[in-house]
Amino acid sequence: MSERILVLDALDSQSEAAQSLRTNLRNSLAKRSSDIDWVDVSRSALVPCIGCFDCFRTTPGECRFRKDDGNYLLAKLAGCDTVIRLSGISFGGYNSSMKLVLDRSVPFVLPFFEIVNGDTHHVPRYEKRPRAVSIGLATESGAREAELFRTIAARNALNKASPSYAATVIYCGENPENMARKIEDVLTRNDKPVDISTLERLVPAPSFVGGPAPKRALLLSASQKTLSTSSSERICRALMHHLKAAGTDCELLTLNASVFSDKGRERFLAQVEQADLMVMAFPLFVDALPSMPTRVLEMLAEYLPQNSAAPKKRFAVVVNCGFPEAHQNAPAAAICAHFAEKIGWDWAGALLVGGGEGVVCGKEITTNIAKAHPPFAKVARALALMGEALAHGVPVPDSLGALMAEAPLPIPFSWWRKLYLTMGDWGFRKTARAGGVSKKQLYARPYAPKN
Ligand SMILES: Cc1cc2nc3c(=O)[nH]c(=O)nc-3n(C[C@H](O)[C@H](O)[C@H](O)COP(=O)(O)O)c2cc1C
Repeated sequence: MSERILVLDALDSQSEAAQSLRTNLRNSLAKRSSDIDWVDVSRSALVPCIGCFDCFRTTPGECRFRKDDGNYLLAKLAGCDTVIRLSGISFGGYNSSMKLVLDRSVPFVLPFFEIVNGDTHHVPRYEKRPRAVSIGLATESGAREAELFRTIAARNALNKASPSYAATVIYCGENPENMARKIEDVLTRNDKPVDISTLERLVPAPSFVGGPAPKRALLLSASQKTLSTSSSERICRALMHHLKAAGTDCELLTLNASVFSDKGRERFLAQVEQADLMVMAFPLFVDALPSMPTRVLEMLAEYLPQNSAAPKKRFAVVVNCGFPEAHQNAPAAAICAHFAEKIGWDWAGALLVGGGEGVVCGKEITTNIAKAHPPFAKVARALALMGEALAHGVPVPDSLGALMAEAPLPIPFSWWRKLYLTMGDWGFRKTARAGGVSKKQLYARPYAPKN
């Protein structure tokens, strides 16, 4: 039987480089005995994932949004032998169009956890998963951006339990022979998993040591949750409290789709222009920023006036993730640092929060540190220290990295991880049962190929 290849084309462009890449890939695929399904992602109607986890516990394996193209894409993914992700590169990660598709592929895993290659990941839902090939198109050559793109592809392969993966970066303006060679190579090569000890090194040190205190901060809560208060929102509120207490004028904005309308964009750009410090808090989605904050960064890079009279901005982020290891957030923070560098802002550092569903969980974060209790105290303390530093014109303290790597209870990290994962498994089963979903139904494989 011929190999079934699904090409997800999110190049979003008819540029010469994009067309040449498509032609090269088509030529390479034509030489193989394969059955090719080429999907233009920009034509797919997809609602951004709202992080409700219905696909884990209410309609196992299926998204709550049934009227768009999400479930149709999941069926294609479950039925192919190889998925080729063809995407523009945004600051080292996939562009927002590809991110939208990736975020919506979470029903492809089970809610339960396992440790793979030293880190927590979800147990795969399907027995057969496709090999993953990622081809990124970068506007300019850059070793750091390429390394980041390949790292994210490697992390995704673990997250989606791909049997094998390979990733490559093509530059606009790359000579045709090079492009053809890279494509031939990535189609057959197997790349290795990345060593988890290298992840945090992806995040560069802040680009300044200290300076004048910021006058005005914009806090952007960039979770996509719409049904409950997000941990990102709670993080922004706590941070805002500490910044205000130290004398910084603050504005809090909760991201929603209106920011992308003409009017919304204008308003948002004006808010950004007025601030000299921007802090964005967001959840980790499939090893990177969710599609909406990715689109925000793309929009800022495209529309912010290049020679603005406004003072140079500082940019800091707080990334929180579901898995207990804080370092899983490092590639996402590295994307944000790369964005800052590209746009000419000062990179002010990142706070990486592991186990966000346990240590924040959408609950109010106390700003009275003396009264904070484990396991919530660690994040509360880190946000107080981060807010104080930023308010005084200093980047996020380096020491917070070591603090966030520790367990939030006075026990070894390995014990905390076991406890967290056991509680997580139990919580998913309990809420599923309460909603009338049996243990067996949680393992449903709605898109398993019939033959
Ligand atoms: C689509 C999707 C993808 C996710 N991917 C990851 C991931 O790759 N790694 C991880 O640790 N957590 C992942 N999570 C979990 C979220 O990061 C976690 O639930 C977070 O605490 C949500 O934060 P918020 O309340 O600010 O939205 C994912 C969640 C969703 C819905």
